[in-house]
Amino acid sequence: MSRWWSGPGAIGTAKKKIDEDKVPTKYQSVGLVLGVTGIVGNSLAEILPLSDTPGGPWKVYGIARRPQPAWNADHPIEYIQCDITNKIETLSKLSPLTDVTHIFYVTWTSCSTEAQNCEVNGRMFRNVLQAVIPNAPNLQHICLQTGGKHYIGPFDGFGETLAHDPPFHEDLPRLDTRGANYYYTQEDILFEEIEKKEGLTFSIHRPGVIFGFSPFSFMNVIGTLCVYAAICKHEGKKLRFPGTKAAYEGYSDASDADLIAEHQIWASVDPHAKNEAFNCLNADVFKWKHLWKVLGEQFGIECAEFEEGLSLQEMMKDKGPVWDEIVKENELYSTKLEEIAVWWMIDRGFSMKETWLMSMNKSREHGFLGFRNSTTAFISWIDKMKAYKIVP
Ligand SMILES: NC(=O)c1ccc[n+]([C@@H]2O[C@H](COP(=O)([O-])OP(=O)(O)OC[C@H]3O[C@@H](n4cnc5c(N)ncnc54)[C@H](OP(=O)(O)O)[C@@H]3O)[C@@H](O)[C@H]2O)c1
Repeated sequence: MSRWWSGPGAIGTAKKKIDEDKVPTKYQSVGLVLGVTGIVGNSLAEILPLSDTPGGPWKVYGIARRPQPAWNADHPIEYIQCDITNKIETLSKLSPLTDVTHIFYVTWTSCSTEAQNCEVNGRMFRNVLQAVIPNAPNLQHICLQTGGKHYIGPFDGFGETLAHDPPFHEDLPRLDTRGANYYYTQEDILFEEIEKKEGLTFSIHRPGVIFGFSPFSFMNVIGTLCVYAAICKHEGKKLRFPGTKAAYEGYSDASDADLIAEHQIWASVDPHAKNEAFNCLNADVFKWKHLWKVLGEQFGIECAEFEEGLSLQEMMKDKGPVWDEIVKENELYSTKLEEIAVWWMIDRGFSMKETWLMSMNKSREHGFLGFRNSTTAFISWIDKMKAYKIVP
């Protein structure tokens, strides 16, 4: 069992240790990361190539559509631009990667209805599997990242009554959503495609809200809250919490992006973790009312008293020009407000009538003892947003 996920090594943040002078001449594993500039993709791109990463030395291919951004370019990976919604492009760019041993699927696309989510996200995942499985003879394992909406249903109807009694554990049956949950679609595609190669194994990883770093992520809570705080500071306003009292005062949990990467690497190399679904959380709890104060402190602004019924989407509409001004004044990495701040996601996420937690017992029972202090993680990702000059 690796010190990475058991014993003293399990408690730290990712090692971030690399032997700069030693580029491996022979690789033991070859990872293919789909969504390599995303919130967990960026952590995998950083952690997989480290010299002490289990299963290594790892060669890493990283896939995304846009050119490689500066904040991802330090990672020693082979970067490939490919739109995986396009079957022909996916086949032509991924089928030549015949040395791939492990797939890390950490991407998705957001559509306006869950039925469309099922169609598009199902197609993306199938395109990748059908390009790689028949062409990579040494392919051993596929990690699929889904999430807590497995237990509470998709964003449509989010915050309504919970069908299962939390804490959620992996043995709970699927919800009756008449098929409209793209996580279920992806799981079914995985079960079907995996049959096409003998001995191929899988793991499904279900994080809660992710604390991590990526200006290219569809749902980045830390990034969005940092941008909100920077705008409040710029305008001399207090930080107001947009959500229900339950979201503010109830117990919550979160998933650190580096911890999720470690969890996927553990499942890739540990025989006890094969062909299973696992929740993936920091294994501690917090209250947003406490993290809200921390957010205020990190940006040097005061928090307002709690007020029911606020919406970030409403409060932040028309703030595009204000963000442009902040970017210019502080010489930040150039971003547009609509690409970096995902107001709807915070509004939906904080709209619940009761909070829920997800159990980490199954991961622990299978040998993964890694954890994070969510408050410390929250601060360290804010620091990273500032260090890379994404926010002031
Ligand atoms: N983020 C969270 O807080 C959270 C929480 C729980 C569960 N989850 C689940 O985790 C899964 C993965 O989400 P994530 O948040 O980790 O991903 P993410 O950060 O939104 O991933 C974005 C990455 O995917 C790439 N990408 C997007 N569309 C692509 C396409 N058509 N072809 C190739 N690359 C593409 C993006 O780069 P380009 O745009 O340049 O292509 C970027 O590298 C989802 O099912 C999500 O629901 C997320």
